[in-house]
Amino acid sequence: MPPPVVRSTAPHDILAPMVHVCFVCLGNICRSPMAEGVMRHLVAAAGLGDTIAVESAGTSAYHEGEPPDARSRAAARARGIDVGGRSRRFVRQDFSRFDYVIAMDTENLDDLIGLAPDPAAERKVSLLLAFDPASPPHASVPDPYYGGADGFGRVLDLCTAGCRGLIEHIRREQGIR
Ligand code: 4NP
Repeated sequence: MPPPVVRSTAPHDILAPMVHVCFVCLGNICRSPMAEGVMRHLVAAAGLGDTIAVESAGTSAYHEGEPPDARSRAAARARGIDVGGRSRRFVRQDFSRFDYVIAMDTENLDDLIGLAPDPAAERKVSLLLAFDPASPPHASVPDPYYGGADGFGRVLDLCTAGCRGLIEHIRREQGIR
């Protein structure tokens, strides 16, 4: 278990830890931007917007610089969730910027563990659905890229379940009430 984060602080509360989370999929245009949007939405609703910072990235540079897939944005918007940003590749140096590196599927997980510079970095990597008590062990968020619109709704459902559990996990691990 990584030690509690004590690095940066919110300006108005020097005791509040800033926890940095990055969601990672393959292209950073479908699943991880949706997870980022869902997480930010839930973090804000929990009043933790100054405590938990959220980003996303991809294991590939296939879509570097592109906005999220229009189907991701539309599915999220229908639920009142903003999905934005530009695709970028997750690089080895990112391990020093993030406390939790959250993979959407088992291939992303393996790629991230392969990229990790040391065991401490490896321990930052988890599967999103490991935080969803209703998902089986080692479950992946399925890639919706080549499928229909319903796949994007399913991704949002899974992201919501995983992010709820992740927030509880961060609260416990970091001692955030
Ligand atoms: P994502 O979906 O990893 O959820 O962003 C994909 C996007 C693009 C590709 C594959 C998956 N692609 O092969 O271009």
